[in-house]
Amino acid sequence: MSTVQRATKSNAAKKIADKNKLAIHGGAPARTKPLPLEFPGVFGMGAAEIKAATAVLRAKSPFRYYGLALQKETERFETEFARFIGTRYAVAVGSGTGALHTALSALAAGPGQEVIVPAYLWVSVVAAVVNLGAIPVLADIDESFSLNPLEVEKRITPKTTGIILVHMSGAPGNAKAIRDIAKRQGLFLLEDCAQCAGGSVDGQKVGSFGDIGIFSFQMNKNMTAGEGGCLVTNDLKLYQRAEACHDLGYARDGSGRLVMDSPDLWLWGRGYRMDELRAAVLRVQLRKLPGVVRAMHRSKYRIRAALGKFPEAQLRKMVDPKGDTGCFLIITYRDAETAKRVCQALRAEGITTFPQGLSNLVMTDWGLHLYYNIRSLVNRGSVDGRGFPWNIPANAGLGGSYAKGTCPAADGLFERSVLLPIPSCLTRRDEDDIIHAFEKVLSAELSSGSGERLEK
Ligand SMILES: Cc1ncc(COP(=O)(O)O)c(C=O)c1O
Repeated sequence: MSTVQRATKSNAAKKIADKNKLAIHGGAPARTKPLPLEFPGVFGMGAAEIKAATAVLRAKSPFRYYGLALQKETERFETEFARFIGTRYAVAVGSGTGALHTALSALAAGPGQEVIVPAYLWVSVVAAVVNLGAIPVLADIDESFSLNPLEVEKRITPKTTGIILVHMSGAPGNAKAIRDIAKRQGLFLLEDCAQCAGGSVDGQKVGSFGDIGIFSFQMNKNMTAGEGGCLVTNDLKLYQRAEACHDLGYARDGSGRLVMDSPDLWLWGRGYRMDELRAAVLRVQLRKLPGVVRAMHRSKYRIRAALGKFPEAQLRKMVDPKGDTGCFLIITYRDAETAKRVCQALRAEGITTFPQGLSNLVMTDWGLHLYYNIRSLVNRGSVDGRGFPWNIPANAGLGGSYAKGTCPAADGLFERSVLLPIPSCLTRRDEDDIIHAFEKVLSAELSSGSGERLEK
């Protein structure tokens, strides 16, 4: 080989080495522009939502039951949402938390009863149980990041009244197995689909497996009006109870007047009604939801496919990949140290958001989604400052530990896993950057087998 040839070859090798040099070691980052924030429903908002909201204002009728020229947006939204999910009934409410309270009220959860909840959840789930005077019981998760059916079985006692299955981080949980347990044991199943609107298992939409399904339309969700929620059911009695509970505690007739002739519906209302403005916006967002989900799913599964060549980067187990809405990518590494290093190196490569995005983080930093981060749960915080509901006689001996260590599979997964939101507006270029960053970091980290190269 001539001197010139040798020099050309070594220049080329240097170029490749420079290209692969990790940003955390001073190399050029995979991208310099922050990733977009994870607000799926918001990115598609536009003229149609503005027109829908304006029409309500023009009609001077923002209240769902009567107005100067009532548009019946809330009623129509309920019909359309129930049809989309595949249930007979829907009740629109002010928030996902409100939907949980309304659902548990309709299901008559209360003192003396235990409700099984997953280790990976959102604080509102346990808040609803405790506020009603019932006691949450934690059950561990598996690599799908949702309830492990075997762990659920172990937690059932004579005091158990129901199970809350939470479809976390965009992907459906094991709805069929959990439904079978609930049926066999005579328990209610409440599905929390706040993070999984549009998700499905074997073609059946989440929310339609349980006695009641609840949704949130808060701003981070797949469809949104800033705030909002809905519950769905196939059961007429539960629907009537939920409708009364979300409102004033009584039924209403077709023209919105209160009806007091049914003692079964002399209940206590919670004042969680949805207003016409948000319902109008949500009707538009519902039409856009399949497109939003398609976009996130396409981006996520392109990235997942590219990561297939790194077996040490374990992709989240999917109950049904087709029914995943795609809004989060979760990858589990062999130990907590590797997860931290990979996460930091990816952030240095520019795989993060700005300004306040909770993008690309080790799951131990994922706040009130982890049972042991919920201080009022771990410390059995009371609703009334006098110990309710933990210290009332009906609840004596119920519950269990809520401290870290109660759910070891979840504890391990949280430490070893990194969560990356997948916005619905990623361009092919954004996806290329993410894939390139992963390839750089994982080649360096995992091909060495010991993490040496990242630590240098
Ligand atoms: C799993 C889950 N359940 C319930 C809720 C409560 O919804 P909202 O914020 O609309 O009250 C959320 C919100 O983030 C959630 O993620």
